[in-house]
Amino acid sequence: MLTLQRLLPAPLAKVDPYDAYRPPHRGPLLRINMVASADGLVTDPKGRAGGLAGEADRRVFRVLRALADAILVGAGTVRAEGYGPHRLTPDLAERRRSEGRDGPAPIVVVSRSLDFDFEAPLFTEATARTIVLTCEASDLARRTAAARVAHVLVVGDRTVELAAAVGALGSELGLDHLVCEGGPTLNAPLLAAGLVDELCLTLSPAIMGTGGPAIVEALPAPVALTLHGLYEHHSELFVRYGPRRDVVPQTSGGLVRS
Ligand SMILES: NC(=O)c1ccc[n+]([C@@H]2O[C@H](COP(=O)([O-])OP(=O)(O)OC[C@H]3O[C@@H](n4cnc5c(N)ncnc54)[C@H](OP(=O)(O)O)[C@@H]3O)[C@@H](O)[C@H]2O)c1
Repeated sequence: MLTLQRLLPAPLAKVDPYDAYRPPHRGPLLRINMVASADGLVTDPKGRAGGLAGEADRRVFRVLRALADAILVGAGTVRAEGYGPHRLTPDLAERRRSEGRDGPAPIVVVSRSLDFDFEAPLFTEATARTIVLTCEASDLARRTAAARVAHVLVVGDRTVELAAAVGALGSELGLDHLVCEGGPTLNAPLLAAGLVDELCLTLSPAIMGTGGPAIVEALPAPVALTLHGLYEHHSELFVRYGPRRDVVPQTSGGLVRS
């Protein structure tokens, strides 16, 4: 079984990632999970995340999915990564079942364009019906096509209002614990709206040097973070941050303690 070395808060030679990331209580939680290179990029030269992820990152990625009620993702990532439905490894299916979550988590994709192939496995092979979060400005014909194969929630006019959407997932569908797998465009409004409880960031031991997106694109103001935990496996670093709500952005662009 793959284990991580815990460096912080208290050093421990071997921890099971499931135990490390399992929240102490059930209830509302929104985590962002991203992997970045040492020079801060979230894509490999092929424009995907796969080239950055080592064995332990793949395990943490699966564990964070298995712990969640639903997997939130932007349409850009669904298209770039060719997202399919969530599938559980047998060991994680068993642990998930033992915690009262039967079967895989639904994928919740955020989109205004609804530019998807609705015959793709994400929609036709999902055990837990895929959820599409969209807004009034989306194309009606595409919305109708989406509704044939997915659960469609319309929240907001020109864009999806993410605070209301996250609230509706919890109150209407009982999906309280969300893991957001990006991408950088979706991460920005989630962070800006103060909806993120934890950033789970894997630092990959590689320098890409190619330029490209960072974990968040076009954040309107900086967000201060505090360290929750730090783990290591074969030079991959797993950093867990929470937002620092006592530090606020200044109009000059900096941060100051309130
Ligand atoms: N390293 C990592 O951990 C990681 C993780 C995720 C992604 N990535 C990489 O990041 C890239 C994709 O990122 P991205 O920033 O282009 O895409 P993204 O954040 O996944 O998706 C952006 C799209 O999501 C929809 N969207 C987001 N917020 C919305 C809102 N409030 N209302 C309505 N629609 C909204 C829009 O879709 P429509 O255009 O359909 O309207 C928008 O174009 C890929 O190269 C992927 O490989 C890396």
